[in-house]
Amino acid sequence: MHDSAGEITHLRDELRRHEYLYYVLDSPEISDAEYDALMRRLQALEAEHPELITPDSPTQRVGGKPREGFVKVRHSSPMLSLDNALNEGELRDFDRRVSQLLGGAPYSYVVELKMDGLSMAAMFRDCRFVQAITRGDGVIGEDVTENARTIRSLPLRVQGAFRDFEVRGEAVMNRKAFERLNAERDERGLSRFANPRNAAAGSLRVLEPQITAARRLDYYTYFLLAGGRPALESHWEALEELARMGFKVNPYRKRCAGVEEVLAFCAEWEGRRESLPYEIDGIVVKVDSVNQQQQLGYRAKAPRWAIAFKYPARQAVTAVEGIEVQVGRTGALTPVACLHPVEVSGVTVSRATLHNEDEIERLGLEIGDDVVVERSGDVIPKVVRVSAQGSYRHKFHMPSHCPVCGGKVVREEGEAASRCINTNCPARLKESILHFASRSVMNIDGMGDALVDQLVDRGLVDSVAGIYDLTLEKLLTLERMGKKSAGNILRNIENSKHNPLPRVLNALGIRFVGERTAVFLAEAFGSVDKIAAAGVEELQRAEEVGPKVAVSIHQFFHEPHNRELVDRLRAAGLQFEYSSTRPEGGPLKGLTFVITGTLPTLSREDAKKLIETSGGKVASTVSRKTSFVVAGEDPGSKLDKAQELGIRVISQDELIEMLKKS
Ligand code: IVH
Repeated sequence: MHDSAGEITHLRDELRRHEYLYYVLDSPEISDAEYDALMRRLQALEAEHPELITPDSPTQRVGGKPREGFVKVRHSSPMLSLDNALNEGELRDFDRRVSQLLGGAPYSYVVELKMDGLSMAAMFRDCRFVQAITRGDGVIGEDVTENARTIRSLPLRVQGAFRDFEVRGEAVMNRKAFERLNAERDERGLSRFANPRNAAAGSLRVLEPQITAARRLDYYTYFLLAGGRPALESHWEALEELARMGFKVNPYRKRCAGVEEVLAFCAEWEGRRESLPYEIDGIVVKVDSVNQQQQLGYRAKAPRWAIAFKYPARQAVTAVEGIEVQVGRTGALTPVACLHPVEVSGVTVSRATLHNEDEIERLGLEIGDDVVVERSGDVIPKVVRVSAQGSYRHKFHMPSHCPVCGGKVVREEGEAASRCINTNCPARLKESILHFASRSVMNIDGMGDALVDQLVDRGLVDSVAGIYDLTLEKLLTLERMGKKSAGNILRNIENSKHNPLPRVLNALGIRFVGERTAVFLAEAFGSVDKIAAAGVEELQRAEEVGPKVAVSIHQFFHEPHNRELVDRLRAAGLQFEYSSTRPEGGPLKGLTFVITGTLPTLSREDAKKLIETSGGKVASTVSRKTSFVVAGEDPGSKLDKAQELGIRVISQDELIEMLKKS
């Protein structure tokens, strides 16, 4: 008999290991598609055996149901905040107090980045995650267990020296996720989040766990407690133990012998903070020894053994010299403030987005005013408020015609954005191509701003589908384009044809259809044609597709212009059918491949995708279970291993031959 329970346990262990590699260590061993395939297999087995589902199963991250509200919970011990040191002098004062209170005994500090998020406690019983509580007022917080469960860097099950314990740390949203979220909200006419911290807080405190899941939060831990008290003798050891247990711990931490080292760390990170993928607003300095922490004790709201060295706000005042309008992929016109150049924490800022007319209204901004600009989560700086009205100021008016193509501009009822409605507007076309080619969509490496500008301006590409009509001759007419890079681009374009249906759907640029919705649509309908033929009602069968999204999809496929696009993409050979539901069948069913070396034309990712969509599996190490090793140039030790075990080695061409035999 097939041992489902055994396979379920094995799949869970594998998924946990891959989640850890991906979300905690940032070094995945397998592709997203492989991960998804493992997850689907587990979901299928659990559906057959619901009695075997446990709350710590990787499938249960987003299983939670919407809630009525949040239950208030008391913390095991108060979650305190920190006093601030705003400059070197205040940090030295803190150090002097510590030294005095410890009566001259030696001590050391641990310094960590102060991540700008929301603090949250997570409880574990018998090595399993059971509850998460927000900081709240420090004494009582809110139970956000179901939402926290969706955070992939929070392990649901751990191994280590402790079984019943609590971790505390920071839930954060990285800059990219933050920007994407705000862009999506702009699209939908929703208000933006002011910074990643608010976005993280807003995402953790929503009633539907699905929303938290889509927001991609991260969780970095910095305390390990047992029975409401520090579990280990020193803070440094606690951080090391947390990392060993599989929690995400910020790698930029240091044990410092004295205040000079602490100051050096603060200075170093003030310069480096911009290079981080997430926001920090300072450095947290903690006395390392827990004994000494107890000796130092607490004040009303904050410990005497720790302090936050805060970086100055990254703001500056400057004049708005003009307001320009940019045209995006959907035709939305975005007003951009042209600023008198000003330095904000080491970077010269001369432009800041104003998002839309309502935002300008809200700010009460006119051209000629002085404004406060800030660099926060966004890479793009923003205008915070008007600091002084200019003596010669004048109002901005959204143009009635597109600044790029001269087409008509309309602002629809209930929408924040004004749009150029000319679907052939070159600005829209450029943005559409950039979206189409971007990494998370069709992933056409090399298809960047400079190339797209030239392709459109010279009329070499008249539609997104025109990418697939490019030839070496056409590309070689462009400036600074050599044979080699042209060849690379053509190869990347060719490879993009293997992208699975969800990516193709996302690439079409249908309003409200992003990465997630595309997957749900592909799963519910299985092909572009079925989606195109579906009515508004029927479209809502797909998960997360409501009336608004359904109408948008329906409209998209009923516009002749878009139909033509779809036909051209079909003719180019893009994937119009969902093949990732096919792994049960396919010519490679039951076979496991290991890829080694550089293949002549396929990237490793593409080779993997090809194998998987034909039902095969790709492993990272050669073992007796390996069916074939696909070897390219410079194959390395995997080839030796294959020969040692007598496993058949094939070339890329042979692999492709195998794929054709269906
Ligand atoms: S320790 C009693 N460590 O900063 C110690 N906090 O201003 C309290 N934060 O509420 C917290 N990174 O939300 C600590 N490495 C870190 C932190 C950190 C960010 C936040 C946390 C806390 C606030 C205090």
